[in-house]
Amino acid sequence: MTDDVGKKLVVALDVKTYEAAEKLVGELSPLAGWFKVGSVMFTREGPRLCRLVKDSGAGLFLDLKFHDIPNTVVGAVTSAAALGADMLTVHISGGQAMLEAAVRAREEAGRNDMIIVGVTVLTHLTFEDFHSLFVSERSTNETVLAFTKLAQRCGLNGVVASARELPLIRRHVGPDFTVVTPGIRMADAASDDQVRIVTPRRAIEDGASYIVVGRPIIAAPDPAGACQRILENMAS
Ligand code: C5P
Repeated sequence: MTDDVGKKLVVALDVKTYEAAEKLVGELSPLAGWFKVGSVMFTREGPRLCRLVKDSGAGLFLDLKFHDIPNTVVGAVTSAAALGADMLTVHISGGQAMLEAAVRAREEAGRNDMIIVGVTVLTHLTFEDFHSLFVSERSTNETVLAFTKLAQRCGLNGVVASARELPLIRRHVGPDFTVVTPGIRMADAASDDQVRIVTPRRAIEDGASYIVVGRPIIAAPDPAGACQRILENMAS
């Protein structure tokens, strides 16, 4: 059974096979409250992997970043609810009608407990990408905040925010707004391809509702030990 700090830890199941995911879920479900299934493993193993997570008793975070016409997003959210997703992602850039449709689909599925979080601006985008895409004089931070406020107005529970954006967003939303933060590393660890990283403790101090951790746990020689160290750091 996970303790309180474990309920804030999402382990990203970014592995290549169902068997690898099965091993991790078996080892980590007593420690971590959530597992995140993204597009790579969902495309490969989909519903079977989601059932594995649900059967472990952990929360299922379906990170498929829906972004489509409202009618299609309604269908996707309805399907996610039927799969038992406890949290899912949509792109805020899909706009107000799409976001409201996602919230409506959740209600119609009788799943108001399912957390819907929005992706603001993808963190890999450079300043130049950003300006050519959005044709806007707004800074990235201003856009992140505008997208966050739109998500809030449309009834989403929260947003996914990099460690870089977390303090800014937390200053502008109430304490009940969910902020999910990836890009977490222990102070002595390799950063992999993450640009700005923070420690688990720092992310919690900065107001993360949930932290998402992949490689520092799933690629460790002893995933349960690595998970335990992250939980201790979160609690410290
Ligand atoms: O291995 P690592 O801890 O870097 O994994 C972080 C997870 O969070 C990955 O599943 C990645 O796709 C996801 N993510 C991210 N940065 C974002 C949004 C999602 O790293 N801005």
